[in-house]
Amino acid sequence: MPRKKTYKTPRGTKDILPEEQKYWQFIFSKAESFYKSSGFQRIFTPVFEEEELFARSIGGGTDIVKKEMYTFRDKSGNRLALRPEGTAGIIRAYIEHGMHTLPQPVKLYYIEPFFRYERPQEGRQRQFWQFGFEIIGDCHPIIDAQGVLLAWQSYKELGLSGLSLQINSIGCVKCHPRFRKILQDYYKKRKEDLCSNCRRRISVNPLRILDCKQKKCQKLTKNAPQIIDNLCNDCHEHFKLVLEYLDETNLPYNLNPHLVRGLDYYTKTVFEFWYKEEGSQNALGGGGRYDNLVSDLGGKSTCAFGFSAGIDRIVLNLKQQKIPIPRKKPVYVFVAQLGESAKKKSLALLEKLWQENIGATCALSKDNIKSQLKQASKQDIPITLILGQKEIIDGTIIIRNMREGIQEVVSQERLIEELKKRLM
Ligand code: HAM
Repeated sequence: MPRKKTYKTPRGTKDILPEEQKYWQFIFSKAESFYKSSGFQRIFTPVFEEEELFARSIGGGTDIVKKEMYTFRDKSGNRLALRPEGTAGIIRAYIEHGMHTLPQPVKLYYIEPFFRYERPQEGRQRQFWQFGFEIIGDCHPIIDAQGVLLAWQSYKELGLSGLSLQINSIGCVKCHPRFRKILQDYYKKRKEDLCSNCRRRISVNPLRILDCKQKKCQKLTKNAPQIIDNLCNDCHEHFKLVLEYLDETNLPYNLNPHLVRGLDYYTKTVFEFWYKEEGSQNALGGGGRYDNLVSDLGGKSTCAFGFSAGIDRIVLNLKQQKIPIPRKKPVYVFVAQLGESAKKKSLALLEKLWQENIGATCALSKDNIKSQLKQASKQDIPITLILGQKEIIDGTIIIRNMREGIQEVVSQERLIEELKKRLM
């Protein structure tokens, strides 16, 4: 008989299996509670949007839009794309729902999957997760410092260390044309020494040459003109203040004149968090100010600042740094049953335990008490409740301390009280 075809996850995607879940749940819950308690509100946006939204925001000349977007036509012929990042959709939502009428700034956070058709390797997926935030409607440079600090704190909440903050200013639309020209002149003269990608970038996006990872391009970039020396007065003053505010914190930063980011919507401050200085998949997150995006997408002129962190890379780091993950609501109790009427009663017992917020599990389809106890000790559950024919008649239940092997009989009425005494 011919073998039936089996299926695998598409390249660059992965299943997150039960044994991996503790990392993901830990990150989700830490991000959620940290942003909530810092005055942010959660937002969900669709997994796909109009393709044009991303070209207009991230930039038609960027790698993300040119090479990495999953685009498709739906059955009505609309051109759509799986979102490669979150900021564009959130700004679309800000404008669509008239959020400029709310008290400003509007502070939103998200924890979502995103999609980029990239060459997969460790820490680089085609479906990957980010948590992040956007602060929309505030131009003050202290917001940049606060945003960087919030981003930093979100890694600290997870217990991560060894990260370096890279920061730069890429100026605004006033500084860009002049600096572009300066860079183009510099690289045109040295065109032969650039990689093929960067040769193309000279005319399309010369700033991106600055953060090319190819050795020969990096060599040229070492002596390239720096944007920081070519900022307009407003951008210069803004960045100076951001750094002065950051100096008020304990956050060490590295002024990195070659940091430009891969999305075109940024203005002024940009930043990234790197794990160690080297390696190509070392950015654990990044963001910056984007004061033109709201108006570019049809809204009123509105300043904004945001950040997102790569959860897949954080998981790798948590493992590498061997950070202990606290278990959330452990299973405290195993319900073991013997006989048909005990089996029936154990459902109500589970219900009661769960209502009392006591983590409980069982193997209700099993009949053999020995194999049930074996399961409980395999899962390292400290207490097993044993319910048999005799206990049903007497209105009692056995509490077995699994570590010491000691059993006590208590009345069913007093069970919760007795359990809480043992568990709290
Ligand atoms: P981004 O730098 O493109 O920024 O992505 C942020 C982080 O997502 C990266 O530093 C990295 O950790 C993670 N990441 C990106 N691509 C992948 C991938 N293919 N596989 C695994 N992880 C990945 C943004 O997305 C902006 N929306 C950030 C932002 C928010 N700017 C303003 N607001």
